[in-house]
Amino acid sequence: MAYAATLIPGDGIGPEVTAATVSVLEATGVAFDWDEQQAGVGAYEATGDALPEATVASIERTRLALKGPLTTPVGTGFRSINVRLRQHFDCYANVRPCETLPNTHGPFEGVDLLLYRENTEGLYAGIEYFDERNQIADSINRITRTGSERIIRYAFEDAKRRGRKRLTLVHKANILKESSGMFLRIGREIAADYPDVEFDDRIIDNMAMQLVIRPDEYDAIVTTNMFGDILSDLMSGLVGGLGVTGSANIGEDCALFEAVHGSAPDIAGQGIANPTALVRSGEMMLRYLGEDAAAEAIRQALHDVYSDPSTLTSDLGGDASTSAFGDRVADRVRAV
Ligand code: NAI
Ligand code: MG
Repeated sequence: MAYAATLIPGDGIGPEVTAATVSVLEATGVAFDWDEQQAGVGAYEATGDALPEATVASIERTRLALKGPLTTPVGTGFRSINVRLRQHFDCYANVRPCETLPNTHGPFEGVDLLLYRENTEGLYAGIEYFDERNQIADSINRITRTGSERIIRYAFEDAKRRGRKRLTLVHKANILKESSGMFLRIGREIAADYPDVEFDDRIIDNMAMQLVIRPDEYDAIVTTNMFGDILSDLMSGLVGGLGVTGSANIGEDCALFEAVHGSAPDIAGQGIANPTALVRSGEMMLRYLGEDAAAEAIRQALHDVYSDPSTLTSDLGGDASTSAFGDRVADRVRAV
């Protein structure tokens, strides 16, 4: 039986990396019944709506989506469609693994970190005010007990399932006494239920420094929305950049899989983007569906293909096109 899934190619490099990812997923032999839908600036230009009803209706039905990046124009009232989708489908857990692949020239070897980012509240809750007369702007950092409990519990459960030994909670409780303070308190409470996972905490700025000096001392990290957004890009930089890190947005009965990177307007349309990040999101989608053997085949194929530096895309010093690289990974998936 094929898995029904919504496919959103998205903006910029989105259609290029999505096509390559679909070919890799299909090479695993797992069947998908893709329902292709639009979202983002392209959808806005075509339909007058950046998040068309049909796209939301499709995900309501499939509860599963693979999506390319969506452009969010800066300095307009345009609210991020990514944030809207995550909030609408209540995909509260954003999981972002960072694993070193061969020949990626990151500053370290063997990085293997997992980040769990709260995905629906905090500074990205969308509670913002602008007092025009006095020129005062407020963005509210809304943290709730319910929201904190579910992401921290998800992080412990998932870390335990993946055999991780340690979970570090990242916060700024020294300054943000209420919001970050409650998040830390709840982390300490929940840690008592997971004696097998060592629990500790770090202040965000110190954590940023620690990660670029000794990432091997960390294993899994759980944090609030904006800290997680920033730390996950930092962590991408530890393993070769935004071209290689995938992510999953997971809720109770719905999941959206996308790359950490954006629409990369500087290289869009040239056929040179690295599709690895979205391929890794596809790998996470297979694991979410319980298709572990297929997911493992992709992981193995990526390690094999990356072992030959001449077959990589230009962000990693090679000259392969997006589609040629995707074909190589798909061929390797069929072979492993
Ligand atoms: P970006 O991630 O699009 O690009 C940052 C840099 O990384 C650029 O130099 C780009 O060429 C490079 N890069 C990114 N992905 C790459 C890939 N797969 N292969 C090779 N190089 C890659 O970030 P930026 O420029 O800040 O944002 C561009 C747009 O993307 C904005 O409108 C932003 O709102 C949107 N965005 C969307 C996201 C999503 O849909 N989940 C996430 C992040 C940003
Ligand atoms: Mg981001």
